[in-house]
Amino acid sequence: MNEPSESPARALPNGGLWPDAAGVHVNAHGGGLLKEGGLWYWYGEHKTAGRAGNAANVGVRVYSSPDLLAWTDRGVALAVEPDEASDIARGCILERPKVVKAATGRFVMFFHLERKGLGYADARVGIAVADRPEGPFAFVRSLRPHGEFCRDMTLFRDDDGSTWHVFASEDNATLHVAELTPDCLDYTGRWWRMAERTWTEAPAVFKHDGWYHLLGSGCTGWAPNAARSFRARRMSGPWEPTGNPCRGVNPANGLGPEKTWGAQSTFAIPPDETTGGRWIAMFDLWRPDDAIDGRYAWLPADFRDGRLEIAWHDTFPPAALAPSSSPSSR
Ligand code: GAL
Repeated sequence: MNEPSESPARALPNGGLWPDAAGVHVNAHGGGLLKEGGLWYWYGEHKTAGRAGNAANVGVRVYSSPDLLAWTDRGVALAVEPDEASDIARGCILERPKVVKAATGRFVMFFHLERKGLGYADARVGIAVADRPEGPFAFVRSLRPHGEFCRDMTLFRDDDGSTWHVFASEDNATLHVAELTPDCLDYTGRWWRMAERTWTEAPAVFKHDGWYHLLGSGCTGWAPNAARSFRARRMSGPWEPTGNPCRGVNPANGLGPEKTWGAQSTFAIPPDETTGGRWIAMFDLWRPDDAIDGRYAWLPADFRDGRLEIAWHDTFPPAALAPSSSPSSR
């Protein structure tokens, strides 16, 4: 299934190897997507082999695709720096990069940053900018938003153009949601606590039928745990718990909703014609002992009675949705 394919992939195996156009397993963990100029861009952590490969030895890698299936490696979008004094010195922890296009037309990347040698005690956000979606991104600065911890995080672009940074704060006990300025380089100062004292991380935000839905996990490091969801009428909340949205079992490891099929959420891909008009929930299946071997699962989201539901499927897209002949038949 993972030899270099001459014809574009019709479906990617959830939990298996995802070959890029050169036949190499995609290296974009804890990632997020952005659509620009008819292409999807997938940004993620470039991991290296072994346990040491969980640290940022390279930076953020980016791939592009017209259809979410055939991915071309576009190189390193944000490179860690050789200078030990840099906030993003090689060997720092740089996780869960997410990119949005700002009102300025520039591309802005946010990521969870732990400066080198501080373990996970630093708890900051890093910000980088680029003129093109594939980069190169230039590091701007790192900070603690309104002075508070920032670990697992996502960015959410709302229909009205507002941009929201959602991040695990208060030593992971409580998420914060903070509005960004139109240039996406700073905060407006409007922020709220959400899912208070639920120890929720790995946030991903969906919007459907007037509800915002937050998908997240518990806090057990690289080990999988049960996912949970919340919903609200406004990003500012109040956020109401809506339980574990996962359904079904991953036959490869026998894990179901109690362990999120062995996976952890990272991003929600908004609907367009390439997603079959559905939101897609992106997950990582971490392999912390050989970080580069981490796997992916992308699963369409359903919304039933105003609640998020995500069922396991062996492939992305699920066989029932996969195009039978050519991508143009979708
Ligand atoms: C997880 C988190 C990952 C990474 C890991 C390190 O809880 O979601 O992004 O930080 O911990 O142990």
